[in-house]
Amino acid sequence: MKRFILPVVVLCLAGCQAQKPSGVSSASAMPTVKDRYEGKFLIGTAVNMRQVNGLDPKSDSITRLHFNAVVAENCMKCEKIHPREDVYFFDDADAFVNYALERGLTVTGHTLVWHSQMAPWFAVDAEGKSVDADTFRARLKDHISTVVGRYKGKILGWDVCNEILNDDGTFRRSPYYNILGEDFVRLAFEYAHEADPEAELYLNDFNMFLPAKRDAYVALVRRLKEQGVPVTGIGMQAHVGMDYPEWEEFERSVVDFAATGCSVMITEWDMSALPTFKMTADVSDRSMWRQRMAEHRNPYPGGVLPDSVAAQWNRRMSEMIDLFERHSDVITRVTAWGTHDGMSWKNDFPIRGRRDYPLLFDRDYRLKPFLQEKIGQ
Ligand code: GLA
Repeated sequence: MKRFILPVVVLCLAGCQAQKPSGVSSASAMPTVKDRYEGKFLIGTAVNMRQVNGLDPKSDSITRLHFNAVVAENCMKCEKIHPREDVYFFDDADAFVNYALERGLTVTGHTLVWHSQMAPWFAVDAEGKSVDADTFRARLKDHISTVVGRYKGKILGWDVCNEILNDDGTFRRSPYYNILGEDFVRLAFEYAHEADPEAELYLNDFNMFLPAKRDAYVALVRRLKEQGVPVTGIGMQAHVGMDYPEWEEFERSVVDFAATGCSVMITEWDMSALPTFKMTADVSDRSMWRQRMAEHRNPYPGGVLPDSVAAQWNRRMSEMIDLFERHSDVITRVTAWGTHDGMSWKNDFPIRGRRDYPLLFDRDYRLKPFLQEKIGQ
């Protein structure tokens, strides 16, 4: 059974009409995104601490109305929650989890193993040298057991390992891999399972539509399952662009991942509306690099997205959510990486100071046209 059914049922008991028309929220009679996809998949968003702390009430209203799942943008990452070996900082993560539970939102924990935003002390000794395998294993266990254990029963599932493979399917040479080899994956899942046996446990990565990466994840999941490792889901981040991916490749990954017996989740959905910036130039040529950066920073005059580009963006996003809907028998959650364009990490990536338009709501908190159309607004 899909575990998210429980909170939905509780919510319904708390006030839904028994038979409401699809896409119509009982509370407000306003069509909502979560109601449109109810029974198909959860609709999630990443929230930041401004929202949790009440400093962005408009985002909060959108979250309450249109979403039924949340993930923390940053506060559960290693560098935040475990900044020093003997110091855990739970204030923000506790506030985030309470925020979610008070609103009846399903929570995903993000993330336990990630080479980026790992606390600086985590893999090194006092001299800055890599620690030995025993020390690292003990640190990994302490970190995972403490964090997962604290939120036991409150979190539906954890992104246990984030971005552990390269695009060519080989293991990323991260401290986890360099110190423990591939076995860090098994250990991380086992520690998480021990700490909360009911929690779903996921692998999560970007560019999951690439054939080599897809095949490597399928093979990895099969190896893990053969060893009895409790991996239950595969997260496809889905940070995508106007010129990639091809839907056929994306869809193939959904199908192949589901064939491993795992649930599939779209975990960090956003689509940059700006031309894809490829890091291919020779960086030693500083002036050429600076010029390329300047050209790509904000390609649209006055920061206004041309209508033709907005139309193309909406068309691609519409195609994408239709793809998700076609596979709603295996896709359990679709989460956008942020609520509105103004808060997206894409505004600074891969070039600082960009103005991008990647999310489901614009800077004025208006739902994007493709979703207005889907929900009949
Ligand atoms: C990765 C991580 C997220 C977030 C995004 C963008 O995809 O999984 O937590 O940091 O990068 O910043």
